[in-house]
Formats: sequence, C-alpha cells, structure tokens
Amino acid sequence: MAIVAFYSEVYEPLAWRQALLECDPELNFQVWGEFIAPKDVDVLLAWRPPDGMLKTLPNLKLLQCLGAGFDQLRGRSDLDGGFQIARIVDDDQTAGMVEYALAGVLDFHRQLYLYRDQADRSAWKEWPRSSASQREVGLLGMGTMGAAIARALVTLGFSVRGLSRTRGSIDGVRWFGADDIGAFADGLDMAICVLSLNKANTGILDRRFFERMRRGAAVINIGRGAHLVETDLLAALDSGQLAWARLDVMAPEPLPAISPLWRHPRIEITPHIATSLLPHAVARAIVENIHRVRAGLPPVGAVSRSQLAL
Ligand code: GLV
Repeated sequence: MAIVAFYSEVYEPLAWRQALLECDPELNFQVWGEFIAPKDVDVLLAWRPPDGMLKTLPNLKLLQCLGAGFDQLRGRSDLDGGFQIARIVDDDQTAGMVEYALAGVLDFHRQLYLYRDQADRSAWKEWPRSSASQREVGLLGMGTMGAAIARALVTLGFSVRGLSRTRGSIDGVRWFGADDIGAFADGLDMAICVLSLNKANTGILDRRFFERMRRGAAVINIGRGAHLVETDLLAALDSGQLAWARLDVMAPEPLPAISPLWRHPRIEITPHIATSLLPHAVARAIVENIHRVRAGLPPVGAVSRSQLAL
C-alpha cells in the first residue's frame, strides 16, 4: 500500500488531507507520526523534514517540498536515496509574495513607518511626499516571484530595476546581471531581496550594497535570512544610510529573542509569513506530481542534486 506521508511544523494536516483527497479519493494520506510502516511511504510532503528522516523511508519516490525554496535541504546527510525532489511555485503563493512586497514598498514610499512612530508620540507633523516615479526600487531576484513583484511595481508607477543571472524582458524594468550589482544598487531607494539562497549570493545585502543605495533608503528581505549581513544592516540604520528595514526571513528561524534586530526601532520583523501555500490552491499540482512519479515520470518543479550543491 503506497502511502503519502505529511510532515509539517506549520501547516494543519486536516485541510491538506481534505484538499488532496478531493483531487484523488484513492490517496492513502497519513500524517507523520500516525502511520506505522515507513517502508510503505512512497511520497513525503514536507518543507524541512527532520535530518535523517529520509533514510528511514526505503521506498521513497518523491520528496514534495511544501514551498518554493529548497535551500533548507542543503547539507543534509540523507539525500542520497533514489527519490526525486520537487518544489512548488504556484500563482496564489506568488500573489502572497507580491502583496507582502507591495505592502512594504507602499509603507516606505508613503512614510507610514514615520507616521506610526509619530502617532506613538501624539506628534502631528507632515513630511514632503514623493511620487512613485521618483522612487527607484530594485528587485534582487527576477524568477517567477521577483518578476511578478516587478510587474506590480511598474503598474503602480515605480521606477523598477531587476538583478538576475539570466536576462529577461519586462516592460518598464531595467535589467542588471549579477556582475553589475554595483550599478544596480547605485541610488536605489528600496531594495527587495527575493533571491533563492546559494553560496554566491549569501551575504549579498551587505555594507557595500547599502553604501551604494540612496541615503535614507529601505530594505525588504523576503529571500532568506542568510542574504543579509545583520551587523551591516544595523550599522547602516544607525548611521542613517538606511532609514528602514522590513525582514520576513532570518538566520536562524525562529529569530532568537536576544537578537538586536527585534529591538531596533527602524526594523520591522514578521515571522516568515510573506507567503504560504493554501491547500486548495496547490492540491491538484501535488496530486499530479504523485501520479507522475508513480508512473515513472519526473515531477513538475524537479530540483536536482546538483542544484542542491550550489
Ligand atoms: C518559503 O520560504 C518557501 O520556500 O516557500
């Protein structure tokens, strides 16, 4: 009996069971910890299964990541089985990222972070307004999510730049290659990091990057915590080079209570919620992947072992 096992530290299994069974009533869906025969598991739905878990599943065909990122799997000791790995990039999940990025951009653009601070002190003071076209917004990462955010920003009238290894074309967006990061950063008012993490871009949001931005600029990180050099961010905020940061991703997560990031008056933190998967939105794609691997086909969204080594 082939079992689809579900392991998650955040998602509620009941809704997933219901959504997946609606797509395929024959699925044998089991929540990790409830079922008893690991040898029967041929599909594991999980984002970050505990290290070593995959070694206990001798007949695993597919690790379906419940998310877009796969860097959380890097460096594990149990990835050498013959199973495939797939990630999910879905329209609704992308929409969540767009909403979160726009909320941050508009917050900074309309200086709401300043007005919130003033309201706390009952201070009535108006700041000069800029138009969106006067704001240079740069996206680090122009994959599906970065491109969707860029399009939304163009629609709102912002001046948009995109940094990416491969060049694309979106009306109203100026593209910069990874080698051109200095020119990309020059005079930016806002930087939004939506990169997936690899060795080459670890620490990309650092002092050198911040120094090239316009004085009083803002940073939004929805990539990974390790993209940001925290001490450089704190120094840039304290010197006034940066005015504000909104961080959704941390290294490590959860962010320890003793981290100075929590207490900095110009940093706003959310607990990795920029987007999430909604079971009804992705169930069909997951069930299709289950059917594909059971039929000996590669899953959609396959992640290779060489991508995991980058
Ligand atoms: C979330 O960070 C994801 O990788 O989907």
